[in-house]
Amino acid sequence: MGGAGALEPCAENKLVVIPDDWPGYKLDLFVLPQHYCEDLKCVYIPHGVIMDRTERLAKNIMNDLGDNHITVLCVLKGGYKFCADLVENIKNLSRNSEKCISMRVEFVRLRSYRNDQSTNEMQNLGGEDLSKLAGRNVLIVEDIISTGRTMKSLLSQIEKYNPKMIKVASLLVKRTPLSDGYKPDYAGFEIPNLFVVGYALDYNEHFRDLNHICIINEIGKEKYKV
Ligand code: HPA
Ligand code: MG
Repeated sequence: MGGAGALEPCAENKLVVIPDDWPGYKLDLFVLPQHYCEDLKCVYIPHGVIMDRTERLAKNIMNDLGDNHITVLCVLKGGYKFCADLVENIKNLSRNSEKCISMRVEFVRLRSYRNDQSTNEMQNLGGEDLSKLAGRNVLIVEDIISTGRTMKSLLSQIEKYNPKMIKVASLLVKRTPLSDGYKPDYAGFEIPNLFVVGYALDYNEHFRDLNHICIINEIGKEKYKV
């Protein structure tokens, strides 16, 4: 378990594994904001594929948690797009199904990255009061799990308030030797140990306004370094 290339598949083997040699798509095959064109290497996961995979995750969540009231905890800032699209899909499924999920959406703002490196600490920037999660069915929604430290730290803070249930959905899981082996309950894609941006994932607050998930190049890293 754990380690590059040795990640066990997520819950029920259900995630898309992107191999180390996946080259992505050439930038000029897609529409991208002009201001980022020289900063990116490739389109790694096109927006449409993210949407289709999110629809399937919503269906899995609906199957498991249908007929419950859940509190969706969106981890800001990177999780906002995935969370919005996931909630929208769950709502649509719930409308057209016997099972009905009622949802409430809360937010927590965390930061653990500077440039393309983890800072080893999880900061609860909004100082959110997690006590409101006491007794609730909580679904944490994250953009990416890399080392697993941020998620473990958040989970241990929430567990103090005795929620009824906690599940975690992450759009991406990174194969990295720094992983502590943590696996979310629902995951969209397992990706190699690369720094990705777009679809709300940032590099020092840049690239959130990019629809596709892309790989940043050295020019981009240098241009937006802090
Ligand atoms: N991109 C953006 N944020 C991140 C990443 C990444 O690849 N890994 C962990 N946080
Ligand atoms: Mg995140």
